[in-house]
Amino acid sequence: MQQDSANSEGSDSKMLSSKEIIEKYLDFYKKRDHKEIPNVSLLPKEDSTLLFVNSGMFPLVPYLMGEPHPMGTRLVNVQRCIRFEDIEEVGDNRHTTAFHMLGNWSLNDYFKEEQLHWVYEFFWDVLRLKPEKTFATVFGGRDGASKDEISVEILEEIFRGKGLELKEGERLFYLGSNWWQRGDAVGELGGPDSEVFYYVPSEDSASRHSSQSPDHPELDSESMPKSAQDLEEREDEFMEIGNSVFLQYVKTEDGWEQMEMQNVDFGGGLERLAMMVQEKSDIFETDNFWPVIQRLQELTKKTYKADPETTRHMRIIADHIRASVFLAMDGVLPSNKDQGYILRRLLRRIVRSGKSLGLEKDISVELVGIVVKMFSWLYPDLTEKQSSLEALFAEEEAKFRKTLNRASREVERFLEKSSEKDLSAEKLAKQAFTFYQSMGYPEEIFLEDLREHGVTIDTADFKSHFDKLEQRHKEKSRKGAAKKFEGGLAAHSETTIKYHTATHLLHTALRAVLEADSETDVAQKGSNITDERLRFDFSFTRKLEESELKEVEALVNDVIEAGLPVNFEVMPLEDAVETGALHFFDEKYGDKVKVYYVGETLESAFSKEFCGGPHVENTSELFPIEIYKQKKIGKGVIRLYARFKE
Ligand code: ALA
Repeated sequence: MQQDSANSEGSDSKMLSSKEIIEKYLDFYKKRDHKEIPNVSLLPKEDSTLLFVNSGMFPLVPYLMGEPHPMGTRLVNVQRCIRFEDIEEVGDNRHTTAFHMLGNWSLNDYFKEEQLHWVYEFFWDVLRLKPEKTFATVFGGRDGASKDEISVEILEEIFRGKGLELKEGERLFYLGSNWWQRGDAVGELGGPDSEVFYYVPSEDSASRHSSQSPDHPELDSESMPKSAQDLEEREDEFMEIGNSVFLQYVKTEDGWEQMEMQNVDFGGGLERLAMMVQEKSDIFETDNFWPVIQRLQELTKKTYKADPETTRHMRIIADHIRASVFLAMDGVLPSNKDQGYILRRLLRRIVRSGKSLGLEKDISVELVGIVVKMFSWLYPDLTEKQSSLEALFAEEEAKFRKTLNRASREVERFLEKSSEKDLSAEKLAKQAFTFYQSMGYPEEIFLEDLREHGVTIDTADFKSHFDKLEQRHKEKSRKGAAKKFEGGLAAHSETTIKYHTATHLLHTALRAVLEADSETDVAQKGSNITDERLRFDFSFTRKLEESELKEVEALVNDVIEAGLPVNFEVMPLEDAVETGALHFFDEKYGDKVKVYYVGETLESAFSKEFCGGPHVENTSELFPIEIYKQKKIGKGVIRLYARFKE
């Protein structure tokens, strides 16, 4: 019966597009009584344990634990996912941060028998992948859980159907690591899994086997995996293309506990499957990325495979722009926290790789339209959002390009005067930390500079030194802040320091917004800070309109998001007044005063005020604020209350 349906579902044309792969997949499972569930935003709803949706099962946790799903017990869909932990790998022929997962689920309905038959039927008979290039792994047992012999029996029968013997150590491998779980927290689900591997050597590995041409070579006996370890080590030849998880366990305080439910959670990477189907040895040559690479070739007038570094940078840009578009489509804005910071990093890395390719402006903007065109069939909202995404990316790009250009000169200077002994991981981490502190220059971009200058370095070692410096710095500034408080503000918490800096920003923002169309001066009359909020009194004739409040809030939050440094200078009173720094006109100051400023330099600062401190070191340490109350407290004095939104 399965044979018949396979024939009718099989494709005559070899080169299915990614869209057709999705359609065939959904169709295949719908014919097997699955209902298509909608896909969800990349930002997990009501689940703060993980930053991004990293698999299709994400919204299904309650149903996999027994709650009845309104659409039944057999579900299917295609879900966009982000796995940011793979970012360092991006640049080779198969790793990406964003991808689409083909997923099907059994909520305590079918189990190993059906699932394993179906996945191979779909791969071999519908997508026409080659059985002789396919390898299976199963759970080899661990922590008291026994190895999955049932799956092996089923797989033997499946492979026998194609005339292949499933010999252990040749085509079948037991692995203790064949276990999948979404995360590590209590309440997470997990289970043993059975993975499908396919032979698709990268350019590098293909050249190791001289008899083979680089594109989808046949698998000769010499290239067969020799052991489970061999299969795992040759990950640039054998690629995982599908994973059937038999989700039956839930994590408790005491470890994994078996549930009553016997679920199936299958995931297969669309982009990787497209590589097989479209016979490419390079994921970036599939229709999921190729139009971006083509545009990059036009913009740079370089060919994609000109040299390994060109290829690598084009791949980084092609991956990151797609991920950035998906994130921004789902409402992420670049910022210095959580998901916003990931988007910021992606865009910065695009700018950096663009620079290596000789592109000095508007690179992300150029590419947004290409990504929109490629994916608007799947995400119809994209077309409408295109221009706002372009504006967002353009602004972020321009901001970072300034830092990058300045920092590049510093990096050059540093490398010129460095001798071999200055280039140890430890010393370079120190330097990276200095650049990060003084210019907000990210260490991962500095690493990219080193690579370009031919400086080889143990990045793991570098990172651990960098992290240590960062940690030490945090501890020091915490202690410093506590000390300063003894003579300063009444309260003693970090939050109050943050509110103190936020008060400066609010003061400047009020003046900027209100003085623009009013005769009255906005001058500070008082301020009070607790752990929960800030309170700010200032001279103004009337209560603020809702729109004015929003504008003030937005201005403050822009500065917070921009991550400006906060510094002070001690200077003679007269000079300080000269700088235009805000102060109380009727207050007596000493001969020398401290001027706190928010911005790169005193001249260009967004805010400057006479003040004893203490303050945070960078506005990125603050959270966005909301003004939640205002009062008129007497003639010509308005009081605002504001608090951090998180
Ligand atoms: N949730 C499983 C995975 O991501 C299918 O591999």
